[in-house]
Amino acid sequence: MTAPRFHAGGVICREGNRQSIPHSSKHSQVRAEAGGMRWLVTGGLGFIGSHFIRLALHERPGLEIVNLDAMTYAGNPENLRDLQAQDRYHFIKGNIEDPKAVREALAGGTDAVINFAAETHVDRSILDPEAFLRTDILGTHILLEAVRERRVARFLQVSTDEVYGEVLQGESREDTALAPRSPYSASKAGGDLQVLAYWATYRTPVLITRGCNTYGPNQYPEKLIPLFITNLLDDQPVPLYGDGRQIRDWLFVEDHARGIMRVLEHGESGNVYNLGAGDSRTNLQITQALVQACARTMEGHVRHVADREGHDRRYAIDSSKARALGWKPTVPFEEGLATTISWYRKHEEWWRPLKSGEFLQYYQRQYAHR
Ligand code: TYD
Repeated sequence: MTAPRFHAGGVICREGNRQSIPHSSKHSQVRAEAGGMRWLVTGGLGFIGSHFIRLALHERPGLEIVNLDAMTYAGNPENLRDLQAQDRYHFIKGNIEDPKAVREALAGGTDAVINFAAETHVDRSILDPEAFLRTDILGTHILLEAVRERRVARFLQVSTDEVYGEVLQGESREDTALAPRSPYSASKAGGDLQVLAYWATYRTPVLITRGCNTYGPNQYPEKLIPLFITNLLDDQPVPLYGDGRQIRDWLFVEDHARGIMRVLEHGESGNVYNLGAGDSRTNLQITQALVQACARTMEGHVRHVADREGHDRRYAIDSSKARALGWKPTVPFEEGLATTISWYRKHEEWWRPLKSGEFLQYYQRQYAHR
Protein backbone atom coordinates (compact mmCIF):
# COMPACT_ATOMS: atom_id res chain seq x y z
CA MET A 1 0.00 0.00 0.00
CA THR A 2 1.38 3.41 -0.86
CA ALA A 3 1.64 6.27 1.56
CA PRO A 4 -1.10 8.90 1.41
CA ARG A 5 -0.36 12.03 -0.59
CA PHE A 6 -1.14 15.56 0.40
CA HIS A 7 -2.42 17.99 -2.17
CA ALA A 8 -2.57 21.75 -1.91
CA GLY A 9 -5.76 22.81 -0.19
CA GLY A 10 -5.75 19.88 2.16
CA VAL A 11 -7.17 17.22 -0.17
CA ILE A 12 -6.17 13.82 1.06
CA CYS A 13 -5.58 11.05 -1.45
CA ARG A 14 -4.77 7.47 -0.78
CA GLU A 15 -4.04 4.79 -3.30
CA GLY A 16 -4.03 1.07 -2.67
CA ASN A 17 -6.84 -0.90 -1.15
CA ARG A 18 -8.55 2.03 0.47
CA GLN A 19 -10.47 4.66 -1.39
CA SER A 20 -8.73 7.07 -3.70
CA ILE A 21 -9.99 10.62 -3.98
CA PRO A 22 -9.39 12.28 -7.34
CA HIS A 23 -6.98 15.19 -7.39
CA SER A 24 -9.72 17.57 -8.45
CA SER A 25 -12.07 16.72 -5.57
CA LYS A 26 -13.49 19.61 -3.67
CA HIS A 27 -13.12 19.82 0.10
CA SER A 28 -16.76 18.95 0.61
CA GLN A 29 -16.40 15.71 -1.33
CA VAL A 30 -13.32 14.82 0.64
CA ARG A 31 -15.14 15.45 3.87
CA ALA A 32 -18.08 13.38 2.75
CA GLU A 33 -15.74 10.50 2.04
CA ALA A 34 -13.52 11.00 5.07
CA GLY A 35 -15.07 7.82 6.44
CA GLY A 36 -12.72 5.68 4.33
CA MET A 37 -9.58 6.83 6.07
CA ARG A 38 -7.25 5.67 8.78
CA TRP A 39 -6.21 8.03 11.54
CA LEU A 40 -3.53 7.52 14.16
CA VAL A 41 -4.60 8.89 17.53
CA THR A 42 -1.88 9.08 20.16
CA GLY A 43 -2.79 9.10 23.84
CA GLY A 44 -6.27 7.86 22.98
CA LEU A 45 -6.80 6.10 26.30
CA GLY A 46 -6.77 9.42 28.10
CA PHE A 47 -9.63 11.77 28.86
CA ILE A 48 -10.12 13.92 25.74
CA GLY A 49 -8.50 11.37 23.40
CA SER A 50 -10.92 8.60 24.33
CA HIS A 51 -13.92 10.89 23.80
CA PHE A 52 -12.45 11.94 20.46
CA ILE A 53 -12.04 8.32 19.29
CA ARG A 54 -15.59 7.45 20.29
CA LEU A 55 -16.97 10.50 18.49
CA ALA A 56 -14.88 10.00 15.33
CA LEU A 57 -15.80 6.30 14.95
CA HIS A 58 -19.44 7.17 15.49
CA GLU A 59 -19.54 10.07 13.03
CA ARG A 60 -17.34 8.61 10.28
CA PRO A 61 -18.70 5.14 9.52
CA GLY A 62 -15.81 3.95 7.31
CA LEU A 63 -13.03 5.43 9.44
CA GLU A 64 -10.40 3.22 11.07
CA ILE A 65 -8.52 4.42 14.12
CA VAL A 66 -5.20 3.21 15.44
CA ASN A 67 -4.69 4.25 19.06
CA LEU A 68 -1.05 4.43 20.23
CA ASP A 69 -1.01 4.89 23.98
CA ALA A 70 1.79 4.42 26.51
CA MET A 71 -0.69 3.48 29.26
CA THR A 72 0.82 5.79 31.83
CA TYR A 73 -1.22 6.47 34.97
CA ALA A 74 -3.82 8.55 33.09
CA GLY A 75 -4.24 6.22 30.11
CA ASN A 76 -7.09 3.98 31.13
CA PRO A 77 -8.13 0.97 28.99
CA GLU A 78 -11.53 1.11 30.70
CA ASN A 79 -12.24 4.33 28.79
CA LEU A 80 -12.56 2.38 25.54
CA ARG A 81 -13.23 -1.15 26.79
CA ASP A 82 -16.43 -1.41 24.73
CA LEU A 83 -14.59 -0.60 21.49
CA GLN A 84 -12.17 -3.51 21.79
CA ALA A 85 -14.31 -5.77 19.65
CA GLN A 86 -14.78 -3.11 16.96
CA ASP A 87 -12.88 -4.00 13.81
CA ARG A 88 -12.38 -0.31 12.99
CA TYR A 89 -10.47 0.27 16.25
CA HIS A 90 -6.91 -0.95 16.78
CA PHE A 91 -4.88 -0.49 19.94
CA ILE A 92 -1.10 -0.43 20.13
CA LYS A 93 0.71 -0.02 23.43
CA GLY A 94 3.63 2.33 22.86
CA ASN A 95 5.17 5.67 23.65
CA ILE A 96 5.43 8.64 21.28
CA GLU A 97 8.99 9.10 22.54
CA ASP A 98 9.88 5.79 20.88
CA PRO A 99 10.50 6.25 17.12
CA LYS A 100 10.12 2.51 16.48
CA ALA A 101 6.70 2.37 18.12
CA VAL A 102 5.59 5.44 16.15
CA ARG A 103 6.83 3.98 12.87
CA GLU A 104 4.99 0.73 13.55
CA ALA A 105 1.80 2.60 14.35
CA LEU A 106 2.05 4.45 11.03
CA ALA A 107 2.80 1.34 8.98
CA GLY A 108 0.17 0.48 6.41
CA GLY A 109 -0.69 4.08 5.63
CA THR A 110 -2.16 6.81 7.78
CA ASP A 111 -4.15 9.82 6.61
CA ALA A 112 -3.91 11.91 9.75
CA VAL A 113 -2.17 11.92 13.12
CA ILE A 114 -3.91 13.53 16.09
CA ASN A 115 -1.63 13.94 19.08
CA PHE A 116 -3.36 13.79 22.46
CA ALA A 117 -0.41 12.09 24.18
CA ALA A 118 0.86 14.43 26.88
CA GLU A 119 1.60 14.92 30.52
CA THR A 120 -1.09 17.42 31.43
CA HIS A 121 -1.33 18.14 35.14
CA VAL A 122 0.20 21.42 36.32
CA ASP A 123 0.67 20.23 39.92
CA ARG A 124 2.56 17.13 38.79
CA SER A 125 4.72 19.29 36.54
CA ILE A 126 5.72 21.32 39.59
CA LEU A 127 6.74 18.11 41.41
CA ASP A 128 8.41 16.40 38.43
CA PRO A 129 8.99 18.60 35.37
CA GLU A 130 11.20 16.20 33.44
CA ALA A 131 8.46 13.79 32.39
CA PHE A 132 6.68 16.77 30.80
CA LEU A 133 9.66 17.76 28.73
CA ARG A 134 10.11 14.19 27.55
CA THR A 135 6.53 13.58 26.42
CA ASP A 136 5.33 17.04 25.46
CA ILE A 137 8.49 18.21 23.68
CA LEU A 138 10.58 15.18 22.71
CA GLY A 139 7.51 13.04 22.00
CA THR A 140 6.04 15.75 19.77
CA HIS A 141 9.33 16.00 17.92
CA ILE A 142 9.47 12.22 17.31
CA LEU A 143 5.92 12.29 15.96
CA LEU A 144 6.63 15.24 13.69
CA GLU A 145 9.68 13.50 12.25
CA ALA A 146 7.66 10.37 11.50
CA VAL A 147 4.84 12.43 9.96
CA ARG A 148 7.35 14.25 7.76
CA GLU A 149 9.14 11.06 6.74
CA ARG A 150 5.90 9.29 5.78
CA ARG A 151 4.31 12.39 4.29
CA VAL A 152 1.18 12.04 6.39
CA ALA A 153 -1.42 14.47 5.07
CA ARG A 154 -2.49 15.99 8.41
CA PHE A 155 -0.94 16.39 11.84
CA LEU A 156 -3.04 17.91 14.58
CA GLN A 157 -1.44 18.86 17.87
CA VAL A 158 -3.85 19.04 20.78
CA SER A 159 -2.60 21.87 22.93
CA THR A 160 -3.84 24.17 25.65
CA ASP A 161 -4.74 27.78 26.33
CA GLU A 162 -2.19 27.64 29.16
CA VAL A 163 0.60 28.34 26.66
CA TYR A 164 -0.54 31.99 26.61
CA GLY A 165 0.15 32.25 30.34
CA GLU A 166 -2.16 34.09 32.67
CA VAL A 167 -4.45 36.62 31.04
CA LEU A 168 -5.47 39.20 33.61
CA GLN A 169 -7.65 41.12 31.17
CA GLY A 170 -9.15 40.48 27.74
CA GLU A 171 -8.71 37.28 25.74
CA SER A 172 -5.78 35.56 24.05
CA ARG A 173 -6.01 35.18 20.30
CA GLU A 174 -4.07 32.66 18.27
CA ASP A 175 -1.43 35.27 17.44
CA THR A 176 -0.97 36.42 21.05
CA ALA A 177 2.61 35.88 22.21
CA LEU A 178 3.18 32.71 24.23
CA ALA A 179 4.08 33.32 27.87
CA PRO A 180 3.80 29.99 29.69
CA ARG A 181 4.51 30.06 33.42
CA SER A 182 4.42 26.44 34.62
CA PRO A 183 6.67 23.54 33.62
CA TYR A 184 3.56 21.97 32.06
CA SER A 185 2.57 24.95 29.94
CA ALA A 186 6.19 25.65 29.01
CA SER A 187 6.49 22.06 27.74
CA LYS A 188 3.30 22.37 25.72
CA ALA A 189 4.49 25.69 24.30
CA GLY A 190 7.76 23.98 23.32
CA GLY A 191 5.73 21.34 21.50
CA ASP A 192 3.59 23.97 19.74
CA LEU A 193 6.64 25.90 18.57
CA GLN A 194 8.13 22.78 17.06
CA VAL A 195 4.88 22.01 15.27
CA LEU A 196 4.81 25.50 13.75
CA ALA A 197 8.50 25.25 12.88
CA TYR A 198 7.73 22.11 10.84
CA TRP A 199 5.19 24.08 8.87
CA ALA A 200 7.55 27.00 8.27
CA THR A 201 10.52 24.80 7.44
CA TYR A 202 9.20 21.65 5.76
CA ARG A 203 5.59 22.57 4.96
CA THR A 204 4.50 19.60 7.07
CA PRO A 205 0.70 20.05 7.08
CA VAL A 206 0.14 20.80 10.74
CA LEU A 207 -2.71 22.20 12.82
CA ILE A 208 -2.85 23.13 16.49
CA THR A 209 -5.88 23.37 18.75
CA ARG A 210 -5.57 25.20 22.06
CA GLY A 211 -8.40 24.16 24.31
CA CYS A 212 -9.48 25.74 27.57
CA ASN A 213 -10.10 23.77 30.80
CA THR A 214 -12.09 20.67 29.96
CA TYR A 215 -14.36 18.55 32.15
CA GLY A 216 -16.70 15.61 31.81
CA PRO A 217 -16.90 11.83 32.32
CA ASN A 218 -13.67 9.77 32.36
CA GLN A 219 -11.36 12.51 33.61
CA TYR A 220 -8.62 11.19 35.89
CA PRO A 221 -9.47 12.36 39.42
CA GLU A 222 -6.46 14.64 39.92
CA LYS A 223 -7.89 17.73 38.17
CA LEU A 224 -10.17 20.17 39.99
CA ILE A 225 -13.62 18.92 38.96
CA PRO A 226 -13.20 15.12 39.15
CA LEU A 227 -11.03 15.36 42.28
CA PHE A 228 -13.61 17.46 44.07
CA ILE A 229 -16.57 15.35 42.93
CA THR A 230 -14.99 12.06 44.01
CA ASN A 231 -13.80 13.52 47.34
CA LEU A 232 -17.26 14.92 48.05
CA LEU A 233 -18.99 11.67 47.13
CA ASP A 234 -16.62 10.01 49.62
CA ASP A 235 -17.50 12.61 52.26
CA GLN A 236 -13.88 13.88 52.17
CA PRO A 237 -12.75 17.53 52.22
CA VAL A 238 -11.72 19.28 49.00
CA PRO A 239 -8.46 21.29 48.88
CA LEU A 240 -9.12 24.76 47.44
CA TYR A 241 -5.95 26.67 46.54
CA GLY A 242 -5.41 30.21 47.84
CA ASP A 243 -8.43 32.50 47.76
CA GLY A 244 -10.24 30.37 45.16
CA ARG A 245 -10.83 33.40 42.96
CA GLN A 246 -8.74 32.15 40.05
CA ILE A 247 -10.71 32.12 36.81
CA ARG A 248 -10.95 29.36 34.22
CA ASP A 249 -13.12 28.87 31.12
CA TRP A 250 -14.79 25.42 31.16
CA LEU A 251 -15.58 23.33 28.07
CA PHE A 252 -17.51 20.04 28.14
CA VAL A 253 -15.34 17.21 26.82
CA GLU A 254 -17.65 16.23 23.95
CA ASP A 255 -17.69 19.81 22.71
CA HIS A 256 -13.90 19.83 22.89
CA ALA A 257 -13.70 16.57 20.90
CA ARG A 258 -16.08 18.02 18.29
CA GLY A 259 -13.92 21.12 18.01
CA ILE A 260 -10.85 19.02 17.32
CA MET A 261 -12.73 17.08 14.61
CA ARG A 262 -13.85 20.33 13.03
CA VAL A 263 -10.35 21.76 12.93
CA LEU A 264 -8.88 18.48 11.67
CA GLU A 265 -11.29 18.33 8.75
CA HIS A 266 -11.78 22.01 7.97
CA GLY A 267 -8.77 23.86 9.38
CA GLU A 268 -6.08 25.38 7.27
CA SER A 269 -2.57 23.92 7.52
CA GLY A 270 -0.06 25.93 9.53
CA ASN A 271 -2.83 27.43 11.67
CA VAL A 272 -3.70 27.50 15.35
CA TYR A 273 -7.32 27.40 16.56
CA ASN A 274 -8.43 28.29 20.08
CA LEU A 275 -11.27 26.18 21.48
CA GLY A 276 -12.96 27.98 24.34
CA ALA A 277 -16.43 27.80 25.86
CA GLY A 278 -16.56 31.49 26.72
CA ASP A 279 -17.99 30.51 30.10
CA SER A 280 -15.67 31.67 32.86
CA ARG A 281 -16.03 30.86 36.55
CA THR A 282 -13.94 31.15 39.68
CA ASN A 283 -12.78 27.99 41.39
CA LEU A 284 -14.83 29.09 44.37
CA GLN A 285 -18.01 29.17 42.25
CA ILE A 286 -17.26 25.69 40.91
CA THR A 287 -16.61 24.43 44.43
CA GLN A 288 -19.90 25.90 45.67
CA ALA A 289 -21.79 24.24 42.82
CA LEU A 290 -20.17 20.86 43.49
CA VAL A 291 -20.65 21.05 47.26
CA GLN A 292 -24.31 21.87 46.77
CA ALA A 293 -24.89 19.16 44.16
CA CYS A 294 -23.31 16.57 46.46
CA ALA A 295 -25.37 17.79 49.46
CA ARG A 296 -22.29 18.80 51.47
CA THR A 297 -21.42 22.12 53.15
CA MET A 298 -18.72 24.71 52.43
CA GLU A 299 -17.81 24.85 56.14
CA GLY A 300 -17.63 21.10 56.55
CA HIS A 301 -16.02 20.07 53.29
CA VAL A 302 -13.78 22.84 51.91
CA ARG A 303 -10.19 22.95 53.12
CA HIS A 304 -8.49 26.21 52.22
CA VAL A 305 -4.90 25.27 51.46
CA ALA A 306 -1.73 27.07 50.41
CA ASP A 307 -1.85 28.37 46.84
CA ARG A 308 -0.13 26.63 43.92
CA GLU A 309 3.33 28.05 43.16
CA GLY A 310 3.16 30.44 40.20
CA HIS A 311 -0.60 29.93 40.00
CA ASP A 312 -2.03 31.49 36.83
CA ARG A 313 -4.81 33.80 37.97
CA ARG A 314 -6.95 33.74 34.86
CA TYR A 315 -7.17 32.16 31.42
CA ALA A 316 -9.42 33.47 28.66
CA ILE A 317 -9.31 32.84 24.93
CA ASP A 318 -11.02 34.20 21.87
CA SER A 319 -12.19 31.24 19.79
CA SER A 320 -13.88 33.11 16.96
CA LYS A 321 -11.44 31.56 14.47
CA ALA A 322 -12.67 28.02 15.27
CA ARG A 323 -16.26 29.27 15.33
CA ALA A 324 -15.77 30.60 11.81
CA LEU A 325 -15.12 26.96 10.80
CA GLY A 326 -18.60 26.09 12.00
CA TRP A 327 -17.81 24.85 15.52
CA LYS A 328 -19.47 26.01 18.69
CA PRO A 329 -19.91 24.49 22.13
CA THR A 330 -23.39 23.06 22.67
CA VAL A 331 -23.44 21.97 26.32
CA PRO A 332 -24.14 24.72 28.90
CA PHE A 333 -21.94 24.50 31.99
CA GLU A 334 -24.76 23.65 34.43
CA GLU A 335 -25.91 20.79 32.21
CA GLY A 336 -22.37 19.49 31.63
CA LEU A 337 -21.60 19.62 35.33
CA ALA A 338 -24.79 17.75 36.23
CA THR A 339 -23.98 15.08 33.61
CA THR A 340 -20.46 14.80 34.99
CA ILE A 341 -21.52 14.48 38.64
CA SER A 342 -24.11 11.89 37.72
CA TRP A 343 -21.51 9.92 35.71
CA TYR A 344 -19.11 9.79 38.68
CA ARG A 345 -21.98 8.77 40.96
CA LYS A 346 -22.86 5.89 38.64
CA HIS A 347 -19.31 4.80 37.83
CA GLU A 348 -17.61 4.23 41.16
CA GLU A 349 -16.10 1.09 39.64
CA TRP A 350 -14.25 3.37 37.19
CA TRP A 351 -12.73 5.86 39.65
CA ARG A 352 -12.37 3.96 42.92
CA PRO A 353 -9.50 1.76 41.70
CA LEU A 354 -7.74 4.91 40.45
CA LYS A 355 -7.81 6.52 43.88
CA SER A 356 -5.38 4.00 45.35
CA GLY A 357 -1.70 3.05 45.01
CA GLU A 358 0.19 5.63 42.93
CA PHE A 359 -2.60 8.17 43.32
CA LEU A 360 -2.50 8.04 47.11
CA GLN A 361 1.27 8.59 47.06
CA TYR A 362 0.79 11.56 44.75
CA TYR A 363 -2.07 12.91 46.88
CA GLN A 364 0.06 12.70 50.01
CA ARG A 365 3.00 14.44 48.31
CA GLN A 366 0.78 17.10 46.81
CA TYR A 367 -1.56 17.95 49.67
CA ALA A 368 -0.30 16.63 53.03
CA HIS A 369 1.97 19.61 53.77
CA ARG A 370 -0.40 22.31 52.53
P1 TYD B 1 -6.71 22.02 37.25
O1 TYD B 1 -7.92 21.18 37.10
O2 TYD B 1 -5.47 21.38 37.81
O3 TYD B 1 -6.44 22.68 35.84
P2 TYD B 1 -5.40 23.86 35.42
O4 TYD B 1 -4.42 24.07 36.52
O5 TYD B 1 -4.76 23.26 34.22
O6 TYD B 1 -6.25 25.06 35.15
O7 TYD B 1 -7.07 23.25 38.18
C1 TYD B 1 -8.11 24.13 37.85
C2 TYD B 1 -8.10 25.22 38.88
O8 TYD B 1 -8.43 24.66 40.15
C3 TYD B 1 -6.75 25.88 39.06
O9 TYD B 1 -6.94 27.27 39.27
C4 TYD B 1 -6.19 25.24 40.30
C5 TYD B 1 -7.41 24.91 41.11
N1 TYD B 1 -7.29 23.70 41.97
C6 TYD B 1 -7.55 23.79 43.35
O10 TYD B 1 -7.91 24.86 43.88
N2 TYD B 1 -7.39 22.66 44.11
C7 TYD B 1 -7.00 21.47 43.58
O11 TYD B 1 -6.86 20.49 44.33
C8 TYD B 1 -6.76 21.39 42.17
C9 TYD B 1 -6.34 20.11 41.53
C10 TYD B 1 -6.93 22.55 41.40
